[in-house]
Amino acid sequence: MTDKPLMMVPGPVGCRPNVLEALAAQPLHPTDPRYVEVFRRVFKGMRGVFGAPKGQPVIFNGGGLLAMEAACASLLEPDDEVLVVDNGFFGEIFIQIIKCHAKRVTVLITSFGDRVPTDKVEAELRKGRFKALAFNHVETSSGVKAQIEELAAVAQAHGALTLVDGVSAVGGEVVEQRAWGVDVYCASTQKALAAPPGLALLMLGSRALEILENRKTLIKGFYLDLRKWVDSMRSYEEGGPPRLVSTPSTNLVMALATSLDDIVTEGISNRIQRHHRIADVMRSGLVAHGFTLVPKHSSFFANTVTAAYTPEGAPASNLVKQMAQQGVLIAPGIGEYRDQLVRIGHMGGVTLEDVKTTLQAIGQTITH
Ligand SMILES: Cc1ncc(COP(=O)(O)O)c(C=O)c1O
Repeated sequence: MTDKPLMMVPGPVGCRPNVLEALAAQPLHPTDPRYVEVFRRVFKGMRGVFGAPKGQPVIFNGGGLLAMEAACASLLEPDDEVLVVDNGFFGEIFIQIIKCHAKRVTVLITSFGDRVPTDKVEAELRKGRFKALAFNHVETSSGVKAQIEELAAVAQAHGALTLVDGVSAVGGEVVEQRAWGVDVYCASTQKALAAPPGLALLMLGSRALEILENRKTLIKGFYLDLRKWVDSMRSYEEGGPPRLVSTPSTNLVMALATSLDDIVTEGISNRIQRHHRIADVMRSGLVAHGFTLVPKHSSFFANTVTAAYTPEGAPASNLVKQMAQQGVLIAPGIGEYRDQLVRIGHMGGVTLEDVKTTLQAIGQTITH
């Protein structure tokens, strides 16, 4: 990406011109056969990127938090207890959402930059009271990636559903929803999927679909009712006529279809490798400039976002401001970490060249 400013924030990311062109097209009617075909392309692309050959994709206007809220409203019942792994700011948001839809929430928390170990999660799940285990795949406040495969396995072994916030992961990290047995994987479009913000994405596995079908109590939220959305998605997949819940943002869905086509053209594993490589270069460059990486172990490093404490005498807010003056947008820390660290996104269409440009700008900024 060469467009100024260079978007190196952890979302929204810069979009390719062909993705932006889809936004500028005349809106199609949501029952137009051409739009039905667009939706079917999105389903195919999502199944590939989410590692979900038999998963049920769900797409509606909104964002990642709405996807998470719909999953909680539709799959949790008022008396349920949920175990949440809290790795940071977005883990805490997940807790707030779950509290709106379940009676009891047990939280496993760890220090910033660390991960809650799998055996600790398993010890809690063994108590057998949990309907679901919830966590995020990549915590955007710290750049820590969860051990998703292990967590999904222990949840499955103890009969708990796995609800995952994959907003900062999918498209840049390996996601194998089916092989790992993740029941609900939630996402949005504006991060490693490299489309504009505005859609809520979910991938539902077979257990989640079964629970939805057999649910007896009212889902508290018309728009949040995944049964309605699954029915609508199926009507599109069958080739129409579509059964609508609410008017879809047809242009955004077309932009997502274009971006998913680009991902398929690049090849999913090539794309993950590219993310892995550029993340490595970013981390090494930051360390060389005197930054300290937030994740406490190299196995926690995310491909999509890096959080790093700034060197002494270089407050993050100044650095972010000066970088913006040089045409490179990066983000400060969240909450109490606002002035202590920077967060840099390297996902979607970000290239090695973009990472080098960013590091160069950082080098110039901290030496002046
Ligand atoms: C890990 C994580 N979860 C959830 C969200 C919220 O997603 P959205 O802004 O699409 O609602 C974000 C946004 O930055 C995020 O980074």
